[in-house]
Amino acid sequence: MRDSLTFLGLESSCDDTAAAVVRHRAGAAPEILSNVVMGQAELHAAFGGVVPEIAARAHAEKLDLAAERALDAAGLTLAALDGVAVTAGPGLIGGVLAGVMCAKGITAGAGLPLVGVNHLAGHALTPRLTDGLEFPYLALLVSGGHCQFVLVRGAEDYLRIGATIDDAPGEAFDKVARLLGLAQPGGPAVEAAARDGDAGRFTLPRPLLDRPGCDLSFSGLKTAVLRARDGLVAAQGGLTARDCADLCAGFQAAVRDVLAEKSRRALADYMARAPAAPAFAVAGGVAANRDLRTALAAVATAAGVRFVAPPLGLCTDNAAMIAWAGIERFRAGARDGLDLAARPRWPLDAGAPSALGGGRKGAKA
Ligand code: KG4
Ligand code: ZN
Repeated sequence: MRDSLTFLGLESSCDDTAAAVVRHRAGAAPEILSNVVMGQAELHAAFGGVVPEIAARAHAEKLDLAAERALDAAGLTLAALDGVAVTAGPGLIGGVLAGVMCAKGITAGAGLPLVGVNHLAGHALTPRLTDGLEFPYLALLVSGGHCQFVLVRGAEDYLRIGATIDDAPGEAFDKVARLLGLAQPGGPAVEAAARDGDAGRFTLPRPLLDRPGCDLSFSGLKTAVLRARDGLVAAQGGLTARDCADLCAGFQAAVRDVLAEKSRRALADYMARAPAAPAFAVAGGVAANRDLRTALAAVATAAGVRFVAPPLGLCTDNAAMIAWAGIERFRAGARDGLDLAARPRWPLDAGAPSALGGGRKGAKA
C-alpha cells in the first residue's frame, strides 16, 4: 500500500464549484489541506432554484480557478499530487461533464491517475474522513436530491435499506421556503424562521410512519404546509411573521419525527447484523439542521450506537469528500481512463430497485 496519498478533488454536480486537497498517510488520520467552495447562489437567486444551463456554464468557467486556489491554499503544485478525483455523477449532467472534462485535462496534462467518484459515495464516506469510522456503519444521506439509509460495507459496497419514494427532504425544505416567501436554499431559511415558532399550532402529517420499513415520503407533508398556508391566506388575507414561524416549526418537527422514527428502524436492522463497532452517521446538506441532528443523536444513543455528524461545511456539497472518496477508491485499486463517463443517474446500491424519489425530479438521482 502507498504510504502517503495526496489527491485533488473536484465537485460540480449541482450549484457549488468546489476543489480540495486531501492527504492520507497510512495509519494516520486523513488531513484536509485545502477546501475551496465557490457557490453560485447569486446566479440562480432570481429563478427560485438551480438553473442547469447557468450552473454548467459557471462550473466550466470556475473549475480551473477553484483547482488552482485549492492547490495554492495547500501550498502544493500538481507535481505533489498522486491523483485527481472528480464527481462523475449523479447530478446535473452539464456540471458533471464540466468537472469530468476538467479532471481529464489535468490528469492527461500532468500524467496523474484519474478516479471518478459517485457524489453519494462522497457524502457516505465523509464520516471516515472526519471520524475514522470502521466499516460497516449505517449512513443516512439527506440532501436536496436524495434521501436514503445505506449500510456502508466498503468504499465500493453499499446496501440500501430505505429511501424516499417521492421528494428528498432538502427539496421539501426548499419548496416550503418558496411557498412561504423565504430565501433559497430553503433549509437554513426555514430553520431560522422555525426558531421562534410553535411546532404544535398546525397538525401536519408524519408520512409513512404507519407502514413498516424504512422508506420515506415528504411530498404530502409539503402539500399539507401549502394547504395550511392557503387556509390562512383565505381567512386573513395574508401571512403574519408568526404564522410563517409556526408553519416552519411544524414542518421541521414533522421531518425530524419521521427521520428519527425511520432511523430507529434502520438501526434495528443494522444492529441485527452484529457490526463490530456500531456507528450511525448522517450526511448531506439537511444534516446541517440542528434540530434533526439532536433528534438523531438521541435515537443513536438509545440504541447504544455511536453517532457521527460531520462538521457542517463537510455535510453540504464540497470537494474534500470527493478527494477522500477518490483516495479510498484508489486504495481499493480503482483507476479510470479518458473514457470516464459523466452519469446523471448513478445509484449507490446498483442492486436496489429504483426508488421513485431517487431522481424523479431530475437533479440528483
Ligand atoms: O448536500 P447538499 O449541499 O446538496 C445536494 O446534494 O443536494 O444539500 C443541499 C440541501 C438543500 O436542499 C438545502 O435546503 C438543505 O440541504 N439544507 C438544509 C439545511 N442546510 C441546507 N435543510 C435543513 N436545514 C438546514 N439547516
Ligand atoms: Zn450532495
